[in-house]
This record gives sequence, C-alpha cells and structure tokens, in this order.
Amino acid sequence: MRSHYCGQVNESLLDREIELAGWVHRRRDHGGVIFVDLRDREGLVQVVFDPDRAAMFADAEHLRSEFVVSVKGKVRHRPKGTENPNLPSGKVEVLALAMEILNRAETPPFMLDEEDVNEERRLKYRYVDLRRPLMQQRLKMRAGISRTLRAYLDAHGFIEFETPMLTRATPEGARDYLVPSRTHPGKFFALPQSPQLFKQLLMMSGMDRYYQIVRCFRDEDLRADRQPEFTQLDIETSFLDEQGITAIMEGLIRDLFKRVLDMDLPDPFPRLSYAEAMRRFGSDKPDLRIPLELVDVADLVRDCEFKVFAGPAKDPDGRVAALRLPNGGALARSEIDECTAFVARYGAKGLAYIKVNDRAKGREGLQSPIIKFLSNEALDGILKRTGAADNDVIFFGADKIRIVNDALGALRLKLGQERGLAENAWRPLWVTDFPMFEYDAEAKRWVAMHHPFTAPRVDSIEKLKSDPAHAVARAYDMVLNGSEIGGGSVRIHRNEMQSAVFALLGIGAEEAQEKFGFLLEALKYGAPPHGGIAFGLDRIAMLMSGAPNIREVIAFPKTQTAYDPLTDAPGAVGEAQLKELHIRLRLPQATKGGGEE
Ligand code: AMO
Ligand code: AMP
Repeated sequence: MRSHYCGQVNESLLDREIELAGWVHRRRDHGGVIFVDLRDREGLVQVVFDPDRAAMFADAEHLRSEFVVSVKGKVRHRPKGTENPNLPSGKVEVLALAMEILNRAETPPFMLDEEDVNEERRLKYRYVDLRRPLMQQRLKMRAGISRTLRAYLDAHGFIEFETPMLTRATPEGARDYLVPSRTHPGKFFALPQSPQLFKQLLMMSGMDRYYQIVRCFRDEDLRADRQPEFTQLDIETSFLDEQGITAIMEGLIRDLFKRVLDMDLPDPFPRLSYAEAMRRFGSDKPDLRIPLELVDVADLVRDCEFKVFAGPAKDPDGRVAALRLPNGGALARSEIDECTAFVARYGAKGLAYIKVNDRAKGREGLQSPIIKFLSNEALDGILKRTGAADNDVIFFGADKIRIVNDALGALRLKLGQERGLAENAWRPLWVTDFPMFEYDAEAKRWVAMHHPFTAPRVDSIEKLKSDPAHAVARAYDMVLNGSEIGGGSVRIHRNEMQSAVFALLGIGAEEAQEKFGFLLEALKYGAPPHGGIAFGLDRIAMLMSGAPNIREVIAFPKTQTAYDPLTDAPGAVGEAQLKELHIRLRLPQATKGGGEE
C-alpha cells in the first residue's frame, strides 16, 4: 500500500512514481486544482489533484480533514515561488495518478493545529491528540531515551528482569493501589509503589546488576510531575559503594544527554549535602540555573526589637534567612504584595523586605517597614552578608525552619523564572547525606526519609539508636534543573540492622515479621552488600523534550484527579463481580459511573 512515508518525500525521488498512505491534514481548492497536505508519522507532503483525471478529481473534492487515503503519484518540483522552506518535503509535490479513500472521518473534536485545546478533551480523544506532530516527536524521543538507557546498561553488564505487579505493599511513602483476591477471600494484593524489595532479592540471588523499565503505582496527590502510574528506570548493583554507584549512574545520564540531545553534562556532577542544599536554596532539589541564594541572618537579629525576627532567631527549630533579588528595587508595591501572598501559601506569616536605594547613605538609603526595628550593626551586617548593591531588594523569612525553607525556596524559583534570571543550561547535581529519619510530630514517631531499607552511615546499631535525629543515610538523589529525576541508596544488608531500623520506625517485631518477614529471612542466607537507584523516566522525558508536565510524554495519562477520560476509568463494577471478590460496597448512596470530575 505504501512505498514511502510522506515526510520522507524529497528531491531524491524526483520523477519517481511512489505510493503514500496517511491522513488528510488540509485540503485547499485553488482555481480548478486541489491541494491536499497528506500526513503520516514522518511528516507532511503536498499532493496535487488535477482536473484532467475527472473521476479521481471528483473524489478528491469530497476529502475532508482526517480522512484516511492512499495515493499513487509522481514526484515533481513545486512551481518556482511556491516552495515551503519549513517542510523537509517543501521543494517537491506529488501529482496524484490514483487515490483511494480508505476511511472517512467525522469532523474531529479539535483541529490538530488548534492551540489551547482543553486538556480533558485532548485526553478523551487522545488518538487524535497524538496525531499532532509535537506529540509524535515527544513520544518518539521518549522511545529513544529508553533505547539509549538500555544500550548503556547492557554495555555495563546490567541484566533486565521483570518483577511482579501483584504483590505486597512496599513502603515508598504513598497510598497503595489494592487488588482484591478472589481465591483468598478478604485478602488484597498491592500494586508495587516500586520493585524495591524484589531488586534487593535479586542481588541476594547473585544477579549482581539488575535493571528494569517498570511501571510503579502510587495513590498520592498529583502534580505536574506526578502520575498515579509512572515509569521508573529501576537499577540495583552488588558490591559497590555510593561512589561506585553514582559514578556509573552519572555516566548513564551523561551518555543519554550526549546521544539524544548532543549536550555535554559536567563530569563529575557537583555534589551538595542535604544540609547545604536546604541552607542555600531552601530545597533538596535546587534549581542551580537560578543565581539566587538564601543566607542566614539569625545571629544579626537575635537581640533586635522586632519580635518577628528575634523569636525564630532564638528558637533552635527556627530560621531567619534573607534572599537578595538584584535590581528588585523596581518592584512595585503591588508586586511585593503578590510575593507576600505567594509565600503565605507555604505558611509564611509575612514577607519583610528592605529596598536598597543608596547603600552608601547607610540607613537613610534604605526603604523598608522594618528598618526602624534594626540597629545600624544589624543592617550593615545584612547588607554585607547578602552582598546588596543599589537597586536591590532583600526579602526575609522568619519562622520554623521548614516554613522559611519552603517559602523562600519557592520565592527564589518564582522570582528567578519570572524575571528571566534562569541560565539556559542543564544543571545536574547529586544531593547526598540525607537524614535517615524525619520526625512526624503528629504521629509522634520517626519516619524513613528515603525508605526503611536504606543503610545508615554508622555501622553500629547502638550508635544509630542513641541519636536517630542526627543519623545520616547513605542515600543520594539526582537533581536536574530543579527536578528530582532519580533517588537511591546503599541498602542495609544485615538482618540485625534491618530489624533495628524497623524498630526505630515503630514497626514492632511482629509487624515486621508479617510485612517484611521474607526480607528479614533472606538477609540471613548470604546477602551481599548492595545498593541502587531509580530514575523517573517520565520526568527525564519531560525535561529533555521541553514538555511542561509529564502527561505530555505519556501516551495515555490520567488527569489530576487520577481519572482517564478516554476509557472513563475508574468505572463501576457489577454486583456479581463484587460478590466473587467477597466485596460489599459501603457507599452512602448508589454509585455514580466512573469519572465524576
Ligand atoms: P523514589 O520514590 O525516590 O525511589 O522514586 C524514584 C524516582 O521516581 C520518580 N517518581 C515519580 N515520577 C512520576 N510520578 C510519581 N508519582 C513519582 N514518584 C516518584 C522520581 C523519583 O526520583 N525504590 C526507590 C529507589 C531506590 O531506592 O533505588 C524509589 O522508588 O523521579
Ligand atoms: P508587621 O509588624 O506584622 O506589620 O510586619 C512587618 C513586616 O514584617 C511586614 O512586611 C510583614 O510582611 C513582615 N513579616 C511579618 N511576619 C513575618 C515573618 N514571619 N517572616 C518574614 N517577614 C514577616
């Protein structure tokens, strides 16, 4: 039916007879001649229907957008002045000799070149949406990314494995998607939040180097870079420490960027400890393209009259930090109010600021609602430490550490993006030395910052128990332009340490046995030292293709409410099926269909 793709027709085929098949992108009637832009996966070509062939011409008059046709025709030069330099096939056209309508199409729900189509509509008619050249490009790039990653891992001795989808819960911090068991009444499988424990078991099986491109399922609040099912490039290795693992993984990502985008990433990637990242950027996934940094000023304002500053400055859990925005002095009052409202979303109670009009004039050269509370020494110290120059503005956050970091960290990104300060570059880094545990004040217990299988830096169980607050994990995240694209760790490989960590996390011996008995047991039968990482493939594809969110690089994604408008999933289930699964619904009223949005 086809000898060439439309997008591949060019001058090398001049005077040849070729066969094409594809979709009518556009039809134009020009004084007795009909032009059709025919489209397939590889692009567009112009087909010309001449009135000389009356029957075919009559058929061509019926062509509408998205009709599927096959065309036999002869390649010729376009007349002078009608070339289209934007198309690879733009110097030629195909004079139709025969045409068959393979299928008609109703008027599509939106035109392919229509902008700002409602996303839910795009997802409902995803097969039309995916015909758009941009979407085809993105998904092709994604396939190229997977192919390149596989090639590198194959070359480095990694073996691809599959692991079960119907399994037990692995704690990665989200809710599980559950699957009821028909054969085991009242019991449920959990879809994996990640293959974490299986990849560790494969190391205990002596497989040495594992990888898998694998779907993970997490029922959590969705954002631009989160989906309920998403894809990881999941990796595990034996007998390597964090230096060894991160070196191979950096190599993997450098190789990927070189081959797919022809970009050179730094070698080695810079490294920041978690503590330093939080201090300088208020975030454990800092966007290094933005040249703004937080600086601590608590020591300068401890004893000032301004309680808003002095309080957190004296509080061991408090922080007072400043963020200087070069040339921010021009911000209007309304813009500062907008920033204040913005940081309020992160819990900040206000956003104090100082505008530096004329630094040489000292106090007189500053403009701010708070300088009256600050001594000359404090003001001078703040100006020096932030490196303030004339026309800058300095913002302040004073509160509990977490609120200040969240608020000023987010403000840093907002100002950097909106004011065009972000460097046009790829800025990868490793964030290391994460705390083992975070204290959940509500639940009054420690939770694992990465996951409960991550090894602590200390070898001794006694030391770990004596000061869990300061225990450092052998964990590392790979961050690229403000996105966490991968995370992993060296794992615990001794039964005693794993039991101790469970105990610290408030998982009693009985619960540990019930949930993770198989792991604790496996650790007794010769478990090698091992560690690994998982990359978010959707996030990598999003960043590399310049897409605004991960739904744009997933063929059939879900909406922000975890709903699929195309298949109308999740859907209701009939009584017979529920009965088989031993399930009785406990809804207040009769169920509505699937996708209430
Ligand atoms: P982690 O939970 O950090 O680690 O996940 C690894 C990477 O997966 C991506 N990611 C997501 N992408 C899209 N939607 C989501 N909901 C989502 N959640 C996570 C991120 C993240 O860096 N088992 C460990 C890995 C290990 O220790 O080896 C794990 O899953 O890019
Ligand atoms: P007030 O004394 O509440 O009028 O606040 C004076 C200035 O301090 C205003 O610019 C507030 O936005 C700012 N401010 C109030 N609380 C905080 C805080 N927790 N952190 C930073 N600035 C604050």
